[in-house]
Amino acid sequence: MSLIDTIKKTPKAELHLHIEGSLTPELMWDLAAKHSVSLPYNSVEEIAAAYNFSDLQSFLDLYYAGAGVLIDEDDFYQLMWAYLSRCHEENIVHTEIMFDPQTHTERGIEFATFMAGFLRAMKDAEEQFGISSYLIMSFLRHLPESSAFATLEQAKPYFSDIHAVGLDSSELGHPPSKFERVFKQAKQHGFKIVAHAGEEGPASYIWEAINLLEVDRIDHGVRCQEDAELMTYLKEKQIPLTVCPLSNLKLCVIDDMKQHNILTLLEEGLLVTVNSDDPTYFGGFLNDNFIALSESLGINEEHVKALAKNSFIASFLPEDKKRQYI
Ligand code: HPA
Ligand code: ZN
Repeated sequence: MSLIDTIKKTPKAELHLHIEGSLTPELMWDLAAKHSVSLPYNSVEEIAAAYNFSDLQSFLDLYYAGAGVLIDEDDFYQLMWAYLSRCHEENIVHTEIMFDPQTHTERGIEFATFMAGFLRAMKDAEEQFGISSYLIMSFLRHLPESSAFATLEQAKPYFSDIHAVGLDSSELGHPPSKFERVFKQAKQHGFKIVAHAGEEGPASYIWEAINLLEVDRIDHGVRCQEDAELMTYLKEKQIPLTVCPLSNLKLCVIDDMKQHNILTLLEEGLLVTVNSDDPTYFGGFLNDNFIALSESLGINEEHVKALAKNSFIASFLPEDKKRQYI
């Protein structure tokens, strides 16, 4: 079997995926027409051609604007259904999906609207494809703490549908410490905790996510290598890192995929996983990320198996379900 076949056929879990970042240019175009939303593009091709970013913020500006076409329940259903159908094609059997409520509530969209669409698609995917999926509610860190608290309050009717809370958006200048109190409250409600840290931000933000937010996983975390003590800690505690190679390349965290440190981190014994982050903006879904690693870093079949195994170990699946895959 070729390596590409191994990548495609190996059952995988995806743990770092923003559902709003899986909006295809085609669906964006169709929904803009449906709702008479004007886009600064004249065609689907123009949308795709605009996806050249210099850093995280330059991406976020387009990502939040793109989400403006998502208005009614069926839009959110279609968005989720398209991603889960792609999971089926890619042999992703379990996925833990981030969504950004504030991106929608700030535009006047009700919690009930997007939650109903997401949950209906997730149920259909479980029934039709056997894919299990969990939701991670992420707070936007460029907004104030009070907005995160309000979001947690609005989510109350859906607590049983949400597995974890997370932290995303503009990292620099918005350290995890800004959200210590809201994460404490989320933890008291029994949520698992994740946070983006060490993508553009320094290793100290990873320490804050661990010590102040008490995270179960770090999203990205690739700058951990700048702190030897942190590397030792992550290895000893086996705190998972949900690494996103094509995202790091597209957002200029690295200049060349050959510079990516995921293989070094894996070989050092850290619990790293491969993920797609915002696949339609960054030029590839999960299997494309594995393929990019094979082309640039020469990962082999054993690496693919180890990374896929890590994705289940690092997941929030119950132990008996994990054991089916590890
Ligand atoms: N980093 C921070 N926030 C995000 C990202 C990311 O990679 N994708 C969507 N929101
Ligand atoms: Zn992300």
